[in-house]
Amino acid sequence: MIKVYYFSPTGGTLQVAQHLGDRLGALLGAEVEYHSYTLPREREVLPQVEAENVVVWATPVYAGRIPNKTLDYVRRALRADGNPAVALVTFGNRAYDNALAELVGLMEEGGMKPVGAAAMVTRHVFSDTLGEGRPNEEDLAALDRFAAQVVEKLLTHYSELTTVVPGEAHPERYYTPLKTNNDPAGFLKAKPSCNSALCTRCGECLDVCPMGSIGAKDGMLTFDGICIKCQACRRRCPTGAIAFTDSEYLSHVAMIERTFDAPKRPEFFVAKQ
Ligand SMILES: Cc1cc2nc3c(=O)[nH]c(=O)nc-3n(C[C@H](O)[C@H](O)[C@H](O)COP(=O)(O)O)c2cc1C
Ligand code: SF4
Ligand code: SF4
Repeated sequence: MIKVYYFSPTGGTLQVAQHLGDRLGALLGAEVEYHSYTLPREREVLPQVEAENVVVWATPVYAGRIPNKTLDYVRRALRADGNPAVALVTFGNRAYDNALAELVGLMEEGGMKPVGAAAMVTRHVFSDTLGEGRPNEEDLAALDRFAAQVVEKLLTHYSELTTVVPGEAHPERYYTPLKTNNDPAGFLKAKPSCNSALCTRCGECLDVCPMGSIGAKDGMLTFDGICIKCQACRRRCPTGAIAFTDSEYLSHVAMIERTFDAPKRPEFFVAKQ
């Protein structure tokens, strides 16, 4: 059985993880199980990895690494006894920096055997142009070829092989977002706001927040807890009532749209001697 675990506030990572999981399942003739750890209640349980399981772990890149607020869960969850594993990160056409190395490193430290690692380009949730239409057909064909290589490795003595990926397994810092003038963009504390004239009180945004930070009081939305800027609430809102208006954040979005508009390619790594 293949067990696919994913964090995917806006669905880009899920789309890629599902493509890879289904492909591996078809090639191996194995069942595939999907497990989200996106919502707070989903992170109350740890994965149950059994002896014959192949693990696929998928996460978006946030500031060049595994999203900070999920890191503790990922560290505790990636525990196994020599199970083969595939690391998958998605990134919004800027860069994946240390995220893949961090994930592969945590797999190894937790007793898994990474047999392959992939960094796929997806839409950057901050933007309507960056990574738009990704993954495209070419990306998915490359992911299929990667799946075939992973299956080849699974049929060899993979425990003697190592998957080498670029980046640092134990990075000291996160990527510092910049503004259009190249100064650091300080939007760590930025939160979304809701235009109550557009809000129909449907409650959809409350259900998708990975931090459980959206509430309602006296018929108005409240954004009281931690906000990781994942954009799940904004993208999910059917009436466009949610926006990020923080000027530092908006300047960063303008900067990345301008600087990283050339399409990046996905990257793949398989275990070697
Ligand atoms: C807080 C935050 C930080 C991000 N940092 C990066 C980054 O460093 N590099 C990059 O290329 N994309 C970055 N992205 C874009 C996401 O990696 C990308 O949009 C991903 O597909 C989102 O996954 P999801 O659709 O599963 O939520 C960032 C997104 C967010 C919300
Ligand atoms: S409030 Fe912040 S963390 Fe919650 S869904 Fe919206 S952007 Fe994501
Ligand atoms: S999803 Fe949009 S319309 Fe629905 S409660 Fe949230 S802000 Fe209001």
